[in-house]
Amino acid sequence: MENTKNTENKELPGKRVADSYTENVQILLQSTMNGYNRLYGGKLLEWIDMLAAVVARRHCGMNVTTAAIDNLQFKEPAYLNDIIIMSGRITYTGNTSMEIRVDTVAESLDGTRRLINRAYLVIVAIDENGHPVKVPPLIIETEEERAEYEAAKKRREYRQKRRLENF
Ligand SMILES: CC(C)(COP(=O)(O)OP(=O)(O)OC[C@H]1O[C@@H](n2cnc3c(N)ncnc32)[C@H](O)[C@@H]1OP(=O)(O)O)[C@@H](O)C(=O)NCCC(=O)NCCS
Repeated sequence: MENTKNTENKELPGKRVADSYTENVQILLQSTMNGYNRLYGGKLLEWIDMLAAVVARRHCGMNVTTAAIDNLQFKEPAYLNDIIIMSGRITYTGNTSMEIRVDTVAESLDGTRRLINRAYLVIVAIDENGHPVKVPPLIIETEEERAEYEAAKKRREYRQKRRLENF
């Protein structure tokens, strides 16, 4: 098969985690609730996917597509009128893929905050034909970013194994 990857573009300048860090804030309206007045998980998933795509686009400056969503844990429910604060950061870059972590916090009227969800998504940069293309490397600046990067490498190994086993 023809190699469609952007192999000529090896010297892309690196980008920092802070360069693509993105937040999204919502107030939970009735339209986002499920049948028993908790935030509908599918709606949260939509917001997570969108936020991760924004982070990935800001990192690579190209169109992107979601390859995988994992470690999607719903730790606590969120209720009508809660404020939802979502933060997305890039944790790892491969050749054409980026791992994005999205944390979701619910804030009640009294200001109490609780982490309700953490998700990791693999987003791939694509060209106009939908073929994967090389992304800029990640510049690691802090110990926390280093730890997240190392953990992401392990998650990537696990995903690759799972991908080979499933298909
Ligand atoms: C994602 C997609 C572009 C990958 O294309 P592909 O021909 O399989 O390309 P590759 O095998 O070279 O994979 C490209 C990168 O994605 C990663 N990847 C692909 N599938 C993956 C998966 N299921 N889990 C984790 N990573 C994955 C690869 O590890 C590779 O990363 P790297 O370049 O950093 O090493 C292709 O599978 C696709 O278009 N999928 C549909 C995406 C979509 O429509 N998303 C919206 C959901 S409705």
